Amino acid sequence: MLFENRIAQLREDLERHNRLYYQEATPEISDLEYDKLFRELEDLEKAHPNLYDPNSPTQRVGGAPLDAFEQREHLLPMLSIDDLFAKEEVADFHKRLHKSLGEAPIPLTVEPKIDGVACSLVYRNGSLDYAVTRGDGTRGDDITANVRTIRAVPLMLPKDKAPALLEVRGEIFMPSQGFAKLNEQRDEEGLATFANPRNATAGSLKSLDSKKVAERPLSFIAHGLGANEGADLNSEEDFRALLKEFDFPLNLPLWHVDSLDALLDAIRELDTARHELAYGTDGAVVKVVDFAQRETLGFTSRAPRWAAAFKYPPEQKETLLKEITIQVGRTGVLTPVAELAPVFVSGTTVSRATLHNQEEIERKDIRLGDTVVIEKAGEIIPSIVKVVSDKRKPDSTAYHLPTVLNRQCPSCHGPIEQQPGFVAWRCVNFACPAQAVTRITHFAQRKGLDLDGLGDSVSIKLVETGLASSPLELFTLTVDDLANLMLDPAKSSDGLTVSKERRFGEKRAETLLASLKRAKEEMPLHRWLFAMGISQVGESGARELARLHEKLTDLAGSEIISDLADLPDFEELLKSKRKKENHPRLKQFQIDDNLGPVAAQNIRSFFSSEAGQTVLQRLDELGINPKSDNFAPDPSTTEDLPLAGKTFVVTGSLSAPRPEFKKIIESHGGKVSGSISAKTDYLLAGEGGGSKRTKAESLQVPILNEEDLQELLGEA
Ligand code: IVH
Repeated sequence: MLFENRIAQLREDLERHNRLYYQEATPEISDLEYDKLFRELEDLEKAHPNLYDPNSPTQRVGGAPLDAFEQREHLLPMLSIDDLFAKEEVADFHKRLHKSLGEAPIPLTVEPKIDGVACSLVYRNGSLDYAVTRGDGTRGDDITANVRTIRAVPLMLPKDKAPALLEVRGEIFMPSQGFAKLNEQRDEEGLATFANPRNATAGSLKSLDSKKVAERPLSFIAHGLGANEGADLNSEEDFRALLKEFDFPLNLPLWHVDSLDALLDAIRELDTARHELAYGTDGAVVKVVDFAQRETLGFTSRAPRWAAAFKYPPEQKETLLKEITIQVGRTGVLTPVAELAPVFVSGTTVSRATLHNQEEIERKDIRLGDTVVIEKAGEIIPSIVKVVSDKRKPDSTAYHLPTVLNRQCPSCHGPIEQQPGFVAWRCVNFACPAQAVTRITHFAQRKGLDLDGLGDSVSIKLVETGLASSPLELFTLTVDDLANLMLDPAKSSDGLTVSKERRFGEKRAETLLASLKRAKEEMPLHRWLFAMGISQVGESGARELARLHEKLTDLAGSEIISDLADLPDFEELLKSKRKKENHPRLKQFQIDDNLGPVAAQNIRSFFSSEAGQTVLQRLDELGINPKSDNFAPDPSTTEDLPLAGKTFVVTGSLSAPRPEFKKIIESHGGKVSGSISAKTDYLLAGEGGGSKRTKAESLQVPILNEEDLQELLGEA
């Protein structure tokens, strides 16, 4: 098969498997097979850059960060919707419909109002052209790069059936589980948590770095039709049939009603049903089904007359805070949890709520024995809103986590610490059993040592069965140990489908052992350093360490690390940079956010701790001493490269695909951004490139053609 056809086929297949996996939870192929197809496509695309397509499934991981979002005008205004707060208001709305449309029953639908961020998706000839936020209703932010990372958004529609132009509107949101996990993760990292899923969604979409957005668990559900050229649609039913054909996630459950009584029943039923949904909802949207009737009803200046949203009141309840327990997170973070007298709120009985951290407890002045007001953030996650202060007992005292714990981890009784700049208290014992599972999954992840088939569920089982309680114990596992491991039944992401208990099996055992062998023999130092999971040592920090150390054992007692750890004021250092340049050893460091004194302190204390010494000894016994593959103690700076410090935007059609030009610019020290701002140094423009050219002109950004670029590179 011609590679062109093969690429098209792979793109279509991968999108389908994507959907089966993420939306329908009925995958037809294994993760391994999916990865294989994905890599084949990646390789083909690399070999044929002229066939680049921003809507290829390979692009879902995000691209280069933008300087700013461009503004885009909506094809049709994106209106708001009128809110209804009581039964009487629903009756009035219904009466108004009949006043315009006559006596005959009016078919209506009732569906959940999803608590997210509205977005318009514009498809031209079956390909996602752009995505825009609602903005002021007339124009919004172009968030296409971010939206491409959302698995639930189809990037391509079946070409033979797609209309010339189709605008699908809907809600981008964060499912409850993903939201809870994200906040947990932020607690662990000592970052501020999001108040509710909508804030988390809006915050995520505001990021200019689509690679970061790709890591956020965002989803999409379609709920409205915008512009349309070429599809014959006459009712909500027609529209839904089209959405279904094109694999958009539909908004369910759905009620069809044609009387006021039935409408009120549906609104009541949805109030119960919505608590079963995997995401937050805050109302019921009522819509007239027939498009001709919608047209008769028309719009007010801000909202259509053919739709309305009944808002369910957020529920708040008072209850007693009986106790505060401390959870040891999988990375050692200590999270205080409120143990409450059980109360029924928004559909479920609540008896626990996270208190996040000591700072949060102080901010709300929460004390044992207090009466507290609770609600569900985004109708999902129980949280304490405030203390009812006049019900406080006179003898109550402020809560102080480290004092209550006597500065000991409740799991291993090791020391706990609060590092400067972080809100969380953390158990710093590397051998703490509460952290075993995360240590193993972190060790095994793709960015770590990339151990095939070793995810969460397998790690949990390894720890539970006692086969491994730390990463290095993986290296002594046998095929038999692994093959006989019984895994829990798998649950799909929507929690609906459950498979049988599964045996790990010989085949997977052998694959995993092979990747352990590869980790032992081939994985470079920086991957090992990241995999070891020392707090604050990320991928780039690990790479920087590997640039300055030849092999793992060189890090123990390293003077460079010690010097960095002892720097008194990192912020100052970043600001002045002078101290660094005058420092005998530190001047070779590229000190930035990736590797600072806190990371260095953690590395130093790890290697000098008992746990660290045990790790070094075990590595020695196993014959493992990972080597750096980027050892170069003298920093090769990009400072003398011709395009150093210059930011480019590329537009129009050039003699090669844009990614090629991006490579050229970057290899000469420049940066490429997606949109023009005052900070842009040059616009590289081929033929066309209309709106960017106009913008560059208005901002007086110099416009280059390919020859100008060559000249700039000194290659005329
Ligand atoms: S229909 C012309 N249906 O609520 C307005 N909107 O609309 C038609 N929203 O921010 C809107 N769930 O994004 C509609 N099932 C649903 C919805 C929904 C959430 C949001 C929408 C907008 C706001 C008002």
